[in-house]
Amino acid sequence: MTKFDEQLAQKIDTYIESLFVPADPVLAANIANSHADGLPAIQVSATQGKLLYLLARIAGARRMLEIGTLGGYSTTWLARALPADGRLITLEFSPLHAATARKNLTAAGLDGITEIRVGDAAASMRAMIGAGDPPFDFIFIDADKTGYVQYLGLALQLSRPGTVIVTDNVIRNGAVMEENPEDSNARGAKAYNDAIAAHPRLESIALPIFRDQMDGIAISVVK
Ligand code: SAH
Ligand code: DHB
Ligand code: MG
Repeated sequence: MTKFDEQLAQKIDTYIESLFVPADPVLAANIANSHADGLPAIQVSATQGKLLYLLARIAGARRMLEIGTLGGYSTTWLARALPADGRLITLEFSPLHAATARKNLTAAGLDGITEIRVGDAAASMRAMIGAGDPPFDFIFIDADKTGYVQYLGLALQLSRPGTVIVTDNVIRNGAVMEENPEDSNARGAKAYNDAIAAHPRLESIALPIFRDQMDGIAISVVK
């Protein structure tokens, strides 16, 4: 078997980006501001951002939930898929990350349709469930990987038939294929994959995606 060619994979991602993701000053400023504020550069890639945007458009999403805001890069891609009267709620534990995201979303002209809720995502989701909030059309899970299975259970309680649930970082360079992954992020992602694969209320797939390493996203629709 030939070895996986990381350079080729990177070139292919750059090729796809050059075709389908035009240079965008708002997104470039988002990344620059997040870097200047000291946030880790762990946002989705440009091609992944475009994929998130397209999935949200295809789903016709009007009400979206994001778990893990960071500087609001994926938030920007998702919010751009919303109609003018749409709404995106994004959950972030770190007040510092949330402050950067707030600046970035305001600069992007998206502060009117996005809302950042600061605190533990599971607690925020339980509060929404307790308040009887209406279901979301689209949910993007991208916070701490050890919480993924818990977020899935809560996301399902905030879903309706047809809700799309997309989750980042579900391959972790293949570590999720180990029987008992050493890395806790990979363990969390593996448990998530097992949970969606077996779940009676979900139809799902995982797609490998190359960024700095081979990772991937999972896509599910609620039955
Ligand atoms: N979705 C972003 C990247 C998110 S990185 C993008 O692609 O642009 C993961 C984020 O989840 C970090 O900002 C981290 O602070 C946040 N996070 C970690 N644990 C969390 C928790 N328990 N509740 C809410 N957010 C959490
Ligand atoms: C990492 C990557 C991510 O996309 C994320 O959401 C969290 C962490 C990482 O590679 O460490
Ligand atoms: Mg991620």
